[in-house]
Amino acid sequence: IIPVITIDGPSASGKGTVAQMVAQKLAYHYLDSGALYRLVALVAIRSNTDCANESDIADIASHLNATFDGSSILLNGEDVSDAIRSEQCSKLASIIAGQPAVRAALLQRQCAFRQSPGLVTDGRDMGSAVFPDASLKIFLTASAEERARRRYKQLIEKGINANMQSILQDIYERDTRDSNRDISPLKQQVDTKLLDTTFLSIEEAVNEVLRLHNA
Ligand code: CDP
Repeated sequence: IIPVITIDGPSASGKGTVAQMVAQKLAYHYLDSGALYRLVALVAIRSNTDCANESDIADIASHLNATFDGSSILLNGEDVSDAIRSEQCSKLASIIAGQPAVRAALLQRQCAFRQSPGLVTDGRDMGSAVFPDASLKIFLTASAEERARRRYKQLIEKGINANMQSILQDIYERDTRDSNRDISPLKQQVDTKLLDTTFLSIEEAVNEVLRLHNA
């Protein structure tokens, strides 16, 4: 059985960075499941699809022509790595992620990433819904204020204008939407290890995941 390490957690907790680094250290494959929801949102925006029409959005999800090429994300061959991180895309991704038909349409695609020698994946429901038999399940979090601070720093470093207050507001809103869903990311399972990174560096968090993996 091919090992899977799932790292679920709230918005801007650093799970993506940690998951990628763990995958690199172990020479495992990596799946950014949030990117799939973002890709669906991007296609919906570009095709002017009404996001309230769940079956149309699910149709987009089933027909998504996406490729992950290193750290680049391609849609029909076009590099959309930056486009899917826009504020508009983030908001819409969070909304359509609440649609069960969309989640169902993405399920098989996510499972297909489980390839030898192993997979590290990050998202909201990787340990609960997509890979319930994962070898290690982590719930990675940090306080809302710390997450807002990290996102702010990330945007400023990229030369993007950012406002701390609106980032914090956005994180609160996304946390609320996430926790209202039946696949609540904030609802931990018994076999999930909690990793609070409020006072941990990225490197310390990575080492803790590797330690748990080797335990
Ligand atoms: O970290 P952040 O929430 O900003 O972004 P992300 O991980 O790229 O996820 C984008 C959106 O997809 C979020 O609003 C998540 O709620 C949703 N998502 C999900 O519902 N299930 C997943 N497995 C991954 C992401």
